[in-house]
Amino acid sequence: MLQKPRGTRDFLPDEMEARRTIEWRLREVARRWGYREVCTPEFEDLELFTMRSGERIIEEMYVFSDKGGRNLALRPEITASVIRMYINEAKVAPKPLRWCYFADCFRYERPQKGRYRQFWQFGVELIGADTALADAEVIMLAADMLNATGVSYELRVGHLSFMKNLLEGIDPSAQRRVMAHLDKKDFEALFSTLDGINKPDLADSLTALIKCSTLNEAFEIAGNIPGKERIEQTISLLDASGMKYSLNFGIARGLDYYTGMVFEGFAQNLGAENQILGGGTYRLAHLFGGDDAASCGFAIGFDRVMVSLGDIQPATDPGVGLVCTSEGRTRAFEVARVLRDAGIRTEMDIMERGLGAQLAHASKTANFAIVIGQREAGSGQVTIKNLVTAEQKTVDLAAAIAEVRAFGTR
Ligand code: HAM
Repeated sequence: MLQKPRGTRDFLPDEMEARRTIEWRLREVARRWGYREVCTPEFEDLELFTMRSGERIIEEMYVFSDKGGRNLALRPEITASVIRMYINEAKVAPKPLRWCYFADCFRYERPQKGRYRQFWQFGVELIGADTALADAEVIMLAADMLNATGVSYELRVGHLSFMKNLLEGIDPSAQRRVMAHLDKKDFEALFSTLDGINKPDLADSLTALIKCSTLNEAFEIAGNIPGKERIEQTISLLDASGMKYSLNFGIARGLDYYTGMVFEGFAQNLGAENQILGGGTYRLAHLFGGDDAASCGFAIGFDRVMVSLGDIQPATDPGVGLVCTSEGRTRAFEVARVLRDAGIRTEMDIMERGLGAQLAHASKTANFAIVIGQREAGSGQVTIKNLVTAEQKTVDLAAAIAEVRAFGTR
């Protein structure tokens, strides 16, 4: 038997309905904040992602060449594509641009619960605003979105300038290694890398930095930080909003394009793969031949949010199984049209089953059976059976529609 590729999933209707319920909550929050949906290709020129995505992501990419010999990659993330699109299509659009997306990404990672090779991100990008207000808006939006899903999470906010200030003068690839060790709190690797670049004296301040939890402590450890006022302003905007977060100066992020504020969200009930959100301020536009537009954004790991929420009930979408005898069939088609026009999910027998078998099937797939026999075809009324309570009555079609619509709202 053929199986799906490793690290991918099939979604049956119940799961899809649950996913759509949460997706629409996210869409609704994005809409209220003025973020409009964009869509980019699922594959791009490889170069788009090798320019500034970071070593790890490059190693995990699905890379291929097409029949014309072009080097392409399935997108491992969507930020680079969105910024490419901004340069190609919307460079002169009034700033700031508030965009969002819900799309799948591909990373060749070792699959486990919450870690897949095809996964979905709900992300936003705020392009062309270089202010504390912009940074604060994006972080507040991230919290609003996670709140809308109902997931229990912790939000951590940091800034790269602190680490970068301490690592000034060190060559960029060593800096990246040190930052990655700090991010993972891998102190053994940190000390050996610092020894290797003759900077063992930095160990104390770096470890103190990632443990501190207030801005003042961080400024004391890391010294004179460029953009200090903007950081203070962003943090006071977050505090004024009343949102819950903690400061964490150990966040380095796995992608190389971040420049300032960085933030991550963690689900409280997940194990190893508990990071459900990541984002920050970044600059990419100039690399793709555009202006040096400042941007800020994040992506929510949608699949991890769904794992964290567990078995959620899909939104109630009451369904009708339309059951008829051969004498009632013509009227049943009319009734089906009226029900569907009224927005009610309606399924009719197409297996030429008898009345009893039709009812038995409806009881497995619908909440109501509406029965049209010879008597109903003549009278214009319908017999409606609630398949949960087994209550049955013969009423006008309008009353039957009202009954179906009221299902689940009691
Ligand atoms: P990222 O942290 O690489 O950031 O990914 C965002 C989220 O996608 C992660 O926090 C995680 O929840 C989810 N995720 C990543 N890999 C997997 C996987 N293999 N399986 C399931 N979920 C996964 C970005 O991608 C940036 N583009 C975010 C951003 C937008 N920064 C600025 N704008």
